[in-house]
Amino acid sequence: RQPAVIAPSILSADFARLGAEVDAVIDAGAEWVHFDVMDNHYVPNLTIGPLVCQALRKHGVTAPIDVHLMVKPVDRIVPDFAKAGATTISFHPEASEHVDRTIQLIHDNGCKAGLVFNPATSLSWLDYVLDKLDLVLIMSVNPGFGGQSFIPAALDKLRLARERIDVSGRAIRLEIDGGVKPDNIGEIARAGADTFVAGSAIFNEKDYRAVIAQMKSAAVG
Ligand code: DX5
Ligand code: ZN
Repeated sequence: RQPAVIAPSILSADFARLGAEVDAVIDAGAEWVHFDVMDNHYVPNLTIGPLVCQALRKHGVTAPIDVHLMVKPVDRIVPDFAKAGATTISFHPEASEHVDRTIQLIHDNGCKAGLVFNPATSLSWLDYVLDKLDLVLIMSVNPGFGGQSFIPAALDKLRLARERIDVSGRAIRLEIDGGVKPDNIGEIARAGADTFVAGSAIFNEKDYRAVIAQMKSAAVG
């Protein structure tokens, strides 16, 4: 299992001060920046594109940027995010016509590749591509918004994904996304997650350092 990573989702940050907000959570102990891209087509919301990722890099953000593409189609925008400084690019299998080819495209553009599983999406998508992935992202909410409640069925899905990753023997991160809070992150970690997205749990707090420290200690037990 990989060392624990806290990845604040900027969807819940103050977008009028995004650079400062990202600096603040990284200074407060977060390891990654979770960058939620929504196109008002695959999900009923619209957020940010490559130019904002580029702006964060230009601002001086050196932390890994964990791009979560909630867009359809996927392929066209992959090279732009790679050029804009994305570290990992994750996509939903339902949003790609050829999942294996999209994973290859992400790797060809120099990024790590992740596959994202909505609450109703079967883990069977892993059957023929698990060994090509750097990250598996389990959604514990239906994508589109921050501040939703954690869907408990994600725990069993984490256990199954953890088992498959361990059997593969590969350094694949298992990420959880949606409704993660200080009071459920312990159970989520015990179910097998090693990478934790949290948007509202962090950005709704005054003291980022305190809540990130609280989540980390609860996650590592
Ligand atoms: C939802 C996004 C999540 C969301 C998490 O579609 O993919 O990353 O921002 O926000 P919270 O932690 O508030 O549920
Ligand atoms: Zn996300």
